[in-house]
Amino acid sequence: MRDLLGIELPIIQAPMAGVQDGALALAVCGAGGLGSLPCAMLSPDALRRESSALRERTDRPFNLNFFCHAQPAPDAAKERTWREALAPYYRELGLDESAIASGATRTPFDAGTADIIEPIKPPVVSFHFGLPAPDLLARVKSWGSTILASATTVDEARWLESCGVDAVIAQGLEAGGHRGLFLSNDLTTQVGTFALLPQIVHAVRVPVIAAGGIADARGVAAAFALGAAAVQVGTAYLLCPEATTHAVHRAALASSDAQHTALTNLFSGGVARGIVNRLMRELGPISGLAPVFPLASAAIAPLRAHAERNGSGDFSPLWAGQNASGCKPVPAARLTRELAGTNS
Ligand SMILES: Cc1cc2nc3c(=O)[nH]c(=O)nc-3n(C[C@H](O)[C@H](O)[C@H](O)COP(=O)(O)O)c2cc1C
Repeated sequence: MRDLLGIELPIIQAPMAGVQDGALALAVCGAGGLGSLPCAMLSPDALRRESSALRERTDRPFNLNFFCHAQPAPDAAKERTWREALAPYYRELGLDESAIASGATRTPFDAGTADIIEPIKPPVVSFHFGLPAPDLLARVKSWGSTILASATTVDEARWLESCGVDAVIAQGLEAGGHRGLFLSNDLTTQVGTFALLPQIVHAVRVPVIAAGGIADARGVAAAFALGAAAVQVGTAYLLCPEATTHAVHRAALASSDAQHTALTNLFSGGVARGIVNRLMRELGPISGLAPVFPLASAAIAPLRAHAERNGSGDFSPLWAGQNASGCKPVPAARLTRELAGTNS
């Protein structure tokens, strides 16, 4: 696996949209792991700028990460229902609905994205929520990029392998952030890392990367014992100085609140794991009122921005996995070496 990715340490820093830029990726690359740049929320200009900067600043392999969700058509009735559900909060905070921006906050990988990153020829490209259309995937592979993609079930892992990915990321239920599920929305299919990983290892021939709940070298060793070829770690990096994690998110991660996480669809419409906060408690973490991914975000954004300005995470997606014990305010290079069990 390390040969496939060209890295010294079998540690992949999980791409984490909204809480990092290239600085975290560069630090991890420098330590010998695989640094990742989350690209799903970048505008075309930002994608061009950030991916070129990575290419210029490291001669080590790095990963560009994209989402592959189906872009939903706006649904005015659903949007109205969602705004009505949030209206009491708008009134309480003295906000106006006109503050709600239109348009999707996350766009799927498409031909325009491929045009932007083609000159960069990223060494590794990873996908969440499935894969791009076969012709687009073939185009990315033609640049020599190694392809990784998340699977949350054995069926998804088999599907990804049949589509030609080079390695599968087995994303267990403990994982922070969005679940990469794409073949079914049935949450009863979602299982923990140590149930999922060996089943996927058994089912596919490509290498398997373990993700979800891994926070220290013992967790890494345990994943290897179950057949993982590498690990992808997200939550543990959130307090690193190179991450751009917001202060309210950092405070929640460093407090006992981090022991209370749940799957929620309130912040984007997609199912993701985060620290339980006021919105999740009051609307219920999973609500039929939220529009589909990623349309729920727009009406949450003004509430979140206002609350965060006042030091509150009441309306923030405080993404975190079930094991925040590895979160430490230490440089990402040090954390990477600690995870790999090489502290020198
Ligand atoms: C704050 C946060 C943001 C995330 N954003 C992304 C993303 O943009 N793309 C992606 O493929 N995975 C994303 N994930 C999921 C990670 O790839 C990975 O599955 C997860 O972090 C592993 O579990 P852990 O958080 O317990 O280490 C995110 C996770 C977190 C915690």
